[in-house]
Amino acid sequence: MREHSLSVNDLIWPIFIVEGENQRVAISTMPGVFRYSIDQAIIEVKKAYKLGIPAIAIFPVTDTALKDEMGTEALNPDNLICRACRALKTEVPNIGLITDVALDPYTSHGHDGLLRDGAVVNDETVAVLCKQAVVQAIAGADVIAPSDMMDGRIGAIRSALDEAGFCDVQIMSYAAKYASGFYGPFRDAVGSSTALKGEKHTYQMDFSNGNEALREAELDIAEGADMLMIKPGMPYLDVLYRIKQAFLMPTFAYQVSGEYAMIEAAVAAGFMERDKVVLESLTAFKRAGADGILTYFAIRVAELLSKK
Ligand code: PBG
Repeated sequence: MREHSLSVNDLIWPIFIVEGENQRVAISTMPGVFRYSIDQAIIEVKKAYKLGIPAIAIFPVTDTALKDEMGTEALNPDNLICRACRALKTEVPNIGLITDVALDPYTSHGHDGLLRDGAVVNDETVAVLCKQAVVQAIAGADVIAPSDMMDGRIGAIRSALDEAGFCDVQIMSYAAKYASGFYGPFRDAVGSSTALKGEKHTYQMDFSNGNEALREAELDIAEGADMLMIKPGMPYLDVLYRIKQAFLMPTFAYQVSGEYAMIEAAVAAGFMERDKVVLESLTAFKRAGADGILTYFAIRVAELLSKK
């Protein structure tokens, strides 16, 4: 009599990529999650594909020496993420490849956009994001996921992709991305936390707002988003539910780094049982209307489900 169930088809696995070879670097704030060099990522992604995970989302850890005010490295066709895309497309051609569009892994100030007089400038940033999206599509990305939260970027990126001949590359919009304390461990993982000056409140959403999320989603759909994402996950199930109900679009939830870290910390302290709470939290996303979930637990859950 179960209304909802979780399957491996629901899982998207986010992965951190580092330079070098043979690297599997632990992340202190995310026990059990590693930064992989491309050769090691290939091994892990093959495993994910065998388990039936349909898609991965890759995030680069950019060397500090390559970061600058403008995030120039984002547009380098040979940057880490583009090399990872090419390698993964060759080695694991049938897993869906999602890349993040935003400048924070590349900027010396850690913001998702360009700064002028200390403030993020929307329109100039959008122009750069369009180029970043095309560079990633050329490298083999199947789905472009703009996580930057600039206004008007979905429509602009759609046109840029179409003009470059990538009309089949889809856009997963971070439609409702809140300025959140739950991203802390992610920023450690990609090394943007030490760089980040100030907060992201001028472009990410205020956690006091629910209706605004619907307006943001509506704009992104009108601009051509193929699917929507809500982020963070568990504290925002109401937003996920409302957006799914209102638009009936493919809607995804991101169980972010801080949610992962909370569960791991509680498990390490002996306060909760990992597999129980992980399955419960992911099923809750389904109940709220998610068509898929980005989760750092993806491999673990796929293994669990395959044993059932
Ligand atoms: C970067 C980006 C962030 C996350 C995904 N893409 C961090 C941020 O906006 O500061 C967070 C993911 C997570 O916490 O797991 N634009």
